[in-house]
Amino acid sequence: MPYADAACRARVHSPAPPRVELERITEFSSERLVELAHLDRQAFGSAGLRVYELAVLAEAGIVLEARRAGGERVGGCQLIRVCDKPDMLWVVGIYVVPKWQNRGVGTSFMQALITKLPEFEASGLRLTVDRENTPAVRLYEHAGFLLVDEVDEFYGPGEDRLVMEWH
Ligand SMILES: CC(C)(COP(=O)(O)OP(=O)(O)OC[C@H]1O[C@@H](n2cnc3c(N)ncnc32)[C@H](O)[C@@H]1OP(=O)(O)O)[C@@H](O)C(=O)NCCC(=O)NCCS
Repeated sequence: MPYADAACRARVHSPAPPRVELERITEFSSERLVELAHLDRQAFGSAGLRVYELAVLAEAGIVLEARRAGGERVGGCQLIRVCDKPDMLWVVGIYVVPKWQNRGVGTSFMQALITKLPEFEASGLRLTVDRENTPAVRLYEHAGFLLVDEVDEFYGPGEDRLVMEWH
C-alpha cells in the first residue's frame, strides 16, 4: 500500500505548508472521469474508485479537487450525505497526490474541507481509516476527529477499520 511505503520516508514538511483551495467538480467529461480514476488508483491501489463509481458520485455526491495557489492539482476527495444523518457527510475517499504527500498539504486540505461544510449544509464528517495508515490517522486526529467505532472486516476479510467523526 502507498502509505506503508510512505511510512519509511522522512517527514519533509516545509515551514509553511502550501495553501489549498477546494473546487467542486460539477462538469464531468469521460476524459476527466478516467483521469480521476487514475489518481484514485494511484492513491489507493486496487481499492481506488473506478470510472463507474466516480460517475455516480459526480451526479449524486460531491467530488472536490484540491489545488495549490497557482493551480497545480494536489489532491481530491469524494463525499456523500449520510441518509440517516443528513448533516453528516461520509468521506468516501481523500488523497494527496504522491509528490505532495508529507508536506502539510493533507492538513491544509482537511482544514479547507471543514471550512466548506456549511456550503454543503453539513456540520460533520464521518470516515473509515486503516489503523496502520499512520499519515491518515494522524491527519484526522490533529484535525479533531474522534474515534467512534472499530469495525472488524468493514470492507471484507482482513479489512478492519476505525470509524472516526468530526463535528
Ligand atoms: C493520508 C494523506 C491524505 C495525508 O496527506 P499528507 O499531505 O501526506 O499529510 P500531511 O503532510 O499534512 O501530514 C499529516 C500527518 O501525517 C504525518 N505523516 C505524513 N506522512 C507521513 C509518513 N510518510 N510517515 C509518518 N507520518 C506521516 C505527518 O507527520 C502529519 O502528522 P503531524 O500533524 O503529527 O505532524 C496522504 O498520505 C494520502 O493521500 N495517502 C494515500 C491515500 C490515503 O491513505 N488516504 C486516506 C484514506 S483513509
